[in-house]
Amino acid sequence: MKILVTGGLGYIGSHTCVELLKDNEVVVLDNLSNSKEEVKDKIKQITGKDIKLYIGNMIDENLLDKIFTEEKIDAVIDFAAYKAVGESVKKPVEYYTNNISTVLVLLKVMKKHDVKKLVFSSSATVYGQPDHVPIKETDKTGGTTNPYGTSKLFVEQILKDLYQSDNSWDIAILRYFNPIGAHESGLIGEEPNGIPANLMPYIVKVASNELECLSVFGNDYPTKDGTGVRDYIHVVDLAKGHIKALEKLEKEQSGLYIYNLGTGIGYSVLDIVKAFEKVNNIKVNYKIAPRRPGDIAECYSDPTKAKEELGWQATKTIEDMCKDAYNYIVKSKEN
Ligand code: NAD
Ligand code: UD1
Repeated sequence: MKILVTGGLGYIGSHTCVELLKDNEVVVLDNLSNSKEEVKDKIKQITGKDIKLYIGNMIDENLLDKIFTEEKIDAVIDFAAYKAVGESVKKPVEYYTNNISTVLVLLKVMKKHDVKKLVFSSSATVYGQPDHVPIKETDKTGGTTNPYGTSKLFVEQILKDLYQSDNSWDIAILRYFNPIGAHESGLIGEEPNGIPANLMPYIVKVASNELECLSVFGNDYPTKDGTGVRDYIHVVDLAKGHIKALEKLEKEQSGLYIYNLGTGIGYSVLDIVKAFEKVNNIKVNYKIAPRRPGDIAECYSDPTKAKEELGWQATKTIEDMCKDAYNYIVKSKEN
């Protein structure tokens, strides 16, 4: 198949391109707002294969139309979005425009070219404050607390309404839990701008002496050691979930499917710190700090549906995630 990957030079997109290139042709649209053009060469180094790259904004209907006219696209994986929760609170209009308006343009052009297979990047954030864990796809959504989360919830609703109006669409909504780690080659990985807001990128910067000390946000949650518990998933496992979702869409012809992509295992902040220290043989300075507003105690998935319907299951361990996350930074500094 020939797959259009929007946002394909970003963190999850680049790892997915690597997996896709094993059996597919890949066309990427990316505006480099949070990625670098050199990622294209890294993907080639890993796979020995080229992607076709269009640099531009997904809001640009003419550009999308040109891509669908020039390439015979069979399906789309849509990663293109902004993802910083804190920034979304300060820039709601930019977030809603980039995360929702762009999808509307994409859907319009897909319809025009009769391409109706779509995999969409959603997030566990759509579950808001969960009533219980593990979380199933049928559990309630809503109650998001920031424009980023709300943008994912809205796009999910738009896709449901679209399918309701025309059930020849074939859509997979993938709700990611907490992707971390990097490709084992160390050539691609996660590189947030500025001071990281998320746990693993922060730990990596403390370990590499770019930041002094990790603040552990709260040790009085009702969890095993009082720190927040999350479902961390290796980005390569996550990327493979997209291949399985595409296979499902190819087989089913039409439908709207929602899957959690997580491991089903919850690790605390201190579990992660300890695993990171052990596997990389390095000390991570940390201190206990107040809770971060908006955080929940526990969030982890029930990934049974993806296992049963997609034949997908995460296989990498927390040690793999910690090792590969650090390896990426060490390797990037060498280059
Ligand atoms: P990322 O920022 O690394 O990648 C997004 C890519 O999209 C970047 O390369 C960026 O340049 C590009 N992009 C953004 N807006 C664009 C536009 N209008 N036109 C063209 N390109 C555009 O983010 P990521 O971590 O790889 O996330 C990918 C998707 O997965 C996003 O939709 C994100 O919301 C979702 N998601 C991410 C996480 C996570 O923790 N990383 C968790 C849940 C969901
Ligand atoms: C964050 C996003 C969420 C997104 C998810 C995807 C926020 C508020 N939420 O979730 O929308 O879908 O990433 O990966 O950003 N922690 C520390 N110190 C730090 C950073 C984090 O103790 O410096 C703790 C947090 O309190 C939490 C855990 O580490 O318990 C994970 O935090 P983080 O990596 O930011 O992910 P989430 O908050 O789960």
